[in-house]
Amino acid sequence: MRRIHFFLTLLLLPLTALAAEVKSPNGNIVLTFHVNDGVPTYSMTYKGKDVIKPSRLGLELAKDKHASKGMSETDLMDHFSIKEETTTSFDETWQPVWGETKDIRNHYNEYAVTLEQRLDIHHYPKKAGTKGMWMETQTREMMIRFRVYDDGIGFRYEFPQQKDLNYFLIKEEHSEFAMAGDHMAWWLPGDYDTQEQITQQTRLSEIRGRMKSAVNWDNSSVAVFSPTGVQTSLQMKSDDGLYINIHEAACLDYATMHLELVDAETQALTTQLGGGSNAYTPNPKPSIYQLPKAFTFVSHLTPDATGLKGCMQTPCNTPWRTVMVSDDARDILSSNLILNLNEPCKIEDTSWIHPTKYCGVWWEMIVGKSSWHYTDDFPSIHLDQIDWQRVKPNGRHAANNEKVKRYIDFAAKNGLDQVLVEGWNVGWEDWANMWKRDVFDFVTPYPDFDIKMLNEYAHSKGVKILMHHETSSSTQNYERHIKEAYELMNKYGYDAVKTGYVGDIIPRGDHHYSQSMNNHYLYVIKEAAKHHVMVNSHEATRPTGLCRTYPNLVGGESARGTEYEAFGGNNPDHTCILPFTRLQGGPMDYTPGIFETKLNTWSNNTSWARITIAGTLALYLTMYSPLQMAADLPEHYEKYDDAFQFIRDVACDWDDSKYLEAEPGDYITVARKAKGTDNWFIGGKCDENGHQSVIRLDFLDKGKKYNCTIYADAKDAHYEKNPKAYVITKKVVKAGDSLKLTEAPGGGFAISLIAQ
Ligand code: NOJ
Ligand code: CA
Repeated sequence: MRRIHFFLTLLLLPLTALAAEVKSPNGNIVLTFHVNDGVPTYSMTYKGKDVIKPSRLGLELAKDKHASKGMSETDLMDHFSIKEETTTSFDETWQPVWGETKDIRNHYNEYAVTLEQRLDIHHYPKKAGTKGMWMETQTREMMIRFRVYDDGIGFRYEFPQQKDLNYFLIKEEHSEFAMAGDHMAWWLPGDYDTQEQITQQTRLSEIRGRMKSAVNWDNSSVAVFSPTGVQTSLQMKSDDGLYINIHEAACLDYATMHLELVDAETQALTTQLGGGSNAYTPNPKPSIYQLPKAFTFVSHLTPDATGLKGCMQTPCNTPWRTVMVSDDARDILSSNLILNLNEPCKIEDTSWIHPTKYCGVWWEMIVGKSSWHYTDDFPSIHLDQIDWQRVKPNGRHAANNEKVKRYIDFAAKNGLDQVLVEGWNVGWEDWANMWKRDVFDFVTPYPDFDIKMLNEYAHSKGVKILMHHETSSSTQNYERHIKEAYELMNKYGYDAVKTGYVGDIIPRGDHHYSQSMNNHYLYVIKEAAKHHVMVNSHEATRPTGLCRTYPNLVGGESARGTEYEAFGGNNPDHTCILPFTRLQGGPMDYTPGIFETKLNTWSNNTSWARITIAGTLALYLTMYSPLQMAADLPEHYEKYDDAFQFIRDVACDWDDSKYLEAEPGDYITVARKAKGTDNWFIGGKCDENGHQSVIRLDFLDKGKKYNCTIYADAKDAHYEKNPKAYVITKKVVKAGDSLKLTEAPGGGFAISLIAQ
């Protein structure tokens, strides 16, 4: 049942009020807002400790050749006064289509302030001899809406339709987040095109020194913009024990936000440059923005091909800027702040959206043992000039009838719902980084992939094939073909697609995280919804909770996934960081489950996965996603069938989740109750140092007994030296019992608790 309490109180404070103060429902968070000499300014505390010191808010607008036709060019940064203030409270419990818990409470106090900017605009005569200079007074309105939750705040800018501000171009958003100290931070280099980098753990003051070595320039598309630019979601920890996380929610028709740190050196450099301009913004003209003090993050939006950061038309608003905080790291993981700041579900009939476990014709291509492409005959491919029946196969093409059937059989036998097949469609011979627009048509299979037969075969066994659309970032090409491509899926009974955006964006000059690209990703999600297709998007922009509004967005990549275990490896602590960062905005298609971690034992690839088998089982719990892959090859799972039992059993949709232990970069332990059942599953994952866990089973139903199976690292297990050493023990447990577990370096554990 939905429970909604909605209270509205209009509080018209005297316009001379110095500061508004809004508390979270439990009073732990206090938000303060005031207009300081015409500049909107906010700050935030948690249990009396500073989280955000006084920080300015505003947007710098771009001058445009159409300015005379009504486009605004005056910044929204100062000359503001308060016109109206409203405070409201909201308390609603809603049910996600899929999720970590059955119910989500959305409980906040809101403060919305309408600001008025009055400007005297001087008009000069264009031609000698025409009317002299004249002046008009323009009035603009901008609202800033704050929502104050027990676990953080969100704020956004809103622009109503009005006489003097309806179309405007954003040069930069200058939302500040002034930190109270030199916090520890888990960060990725700020980049307009990739998030597939190794997370760095440094103090804020060390970001600049680490930046160069933090960037892997070999990624297929890299556009780092500043020596102190970092991505969101950014996780920090203060010396006084606060876990602080900055991200954004509901990024719609707007560019993805990064954060640029102002440090001591930025300020020194700026002084050298004469002061006042932000030394690192790529804008050709100096910014009018005055730098804040050190340890302040400032928003930095992703530009489009013209270098601008947003084309706005009122009524409109920015995404929410979010700051989560707690003195307990587990609260950051269980927070629903980002989902709550998104709009409710817009898809009426959601019956076709379902959590999915899948395997796929995938890992062996990533590892290099087989190929996506069919022939080695041509140095370049024109899709309309090749008779595919006549070309010579290279003998390594993985998406062939025989192999796909083998994967379908494996999925059917093991209760997996779907089989991803990559490389099924023509065009892979020259698919990436060629500036090739017409790279795929998304409807023509290679000659050895019988789309009709394979789908019928799969369906006869209760399995579906998971569609793959690599776009090679040629978005115009994808949009041209999307209707036909989705009709083909409907014809053959596919209900999920994995999309991909490898390489630089075509048309050239645009970036993966710009406003126009964010609109593209949303267009794809909406088109997919029309065709009852679920979407799992790789290399797209990082999620901001849109899966609440469009729950057919069941997964995404937007970080270093398991594929990097074949490209040099992920660090053992990688998956103890991602839930604090990348997963804040939505689930990740991390594709866990590598059992044969030393790839050279079965391929020519010398890379290896830095995880134990028990550790990889834990990821099905600690890396929450309604879409979970068993990524390794069927023959590898068949060798360790007793461990694979956990992947067969584990659910991927939950009625309840309890984070039992957490510390960013060190360990995460979570217990989850499978949807519609009394069964619980527990996963614990740790970094390279190992971890000891004592789990009190006080969340189990009193009076019930559970068959407990523990998949643990063996005593001598180690992510490098002995990754396949695991021990499986079984016992019967009840509420109140405790379990003691030892996680090996780079290891973890997985537990199933099946109610008797
Ligand atoms: C990168 C994706 O992350 C990976 O999963 C996929 O196999 C390749 N692109 C090819 O599309
Ligand atoms: Ca990728």
